[in-house]
Amino acid sequence: MIRSTKLVYNRDMISTISRIFSSLYREVVEKFYYMSWPTSDFKKNGYEVIENFLSKEECDYFVNLSNSLLKEDSYMINDNAWLTLRKDADDGLDTKVAQLNMLQNVDEKAKDLFSNGDVLNLFSKRIKEELSIRSLSIMVDQPDTSTKRSWHVDNLAPASFKAFIYLTDVTKNTNSPFSVISKSHRWGFRRWLTSVINSFRGNKLSDMLIFSPKGRGTELTAPRGSLILSNQIIFHRGSPYHTENTRYMMVFYLRRKKDSKEEFTLGKPE
Ligand SMILES: [Fe+2]
Repeated sequence: MIRSTKLVYNRDMISTISRIFSSLYREVVEKFYYMSWPTSDFKKNGYEVIENFLSKEECDYFVNLSNSLLKEDSYMINDNAWLTLRKDADDGLDTKVAQLNMLQNVDEKAKDLFSNGDVLNLFSKRIKEELSIRSLSIMVDQPDTSTKRSWHVDNLAPASFKAFIYLTDVTKNTNSPFSVISKSHRWGFRRWLTSVINSFRGNKLSDMLIFSPKGRGTELTAPRGSLILSNQIIFHRGSPYHTENTRYMMVFYLRRKKDSKEEFTLGKPE
């Protein structure tokens, strides 16, 4: 009995240690990717804002599309698209957020944005690796100052990427700007160390609360139609100071082609 308990303990120990070292290795590999990229604001800061990517009419079109698909409960829009209401998750986070996923399978204009290569071209000028888009989603955020998830990364290395398009004006700090700790995508060692501490404390590995400076971070305000390119290993959060207006935002989920094996199932209803 004691021997088998000891064996299980040793096995757990070995798998924890190998996980810690492989995540450190992935951060080192990510650093080499980073060094190969040409100079750009995206490389330096971890994000870049490009105004006037969509026209006001296009923004209105997608706001109206979202309104026509929203319901009181999460549901499958069709076999390959769905609405996720975050309040239906049991973590108590982001409870005022509704997310329409895989809209490229629902609407022709969304399908065109998904497949016309414009977003991929913007990334390919800034990073060397080939990306693919996994989902075109729209997030609808009601004002919320109490349940927003704090500083986190979407994943540890290897990096994933997102392109956000504000469909409504986010010109004030109270309109829910996407918020980042500028340049923290380069904090590979701090990201890794935080994940190790999180794993010993039993916290979510991707929470980044240990090295995040106090304060509001950089709040990316911009008029509707603006596109934000973002490296999602940057420390970021949805603003917890959202008191005015519902924010509609398109989100492209991207990964390196070689990492994109698994199906996109985020929030898919059972
Ligand atoms: Fe995130």
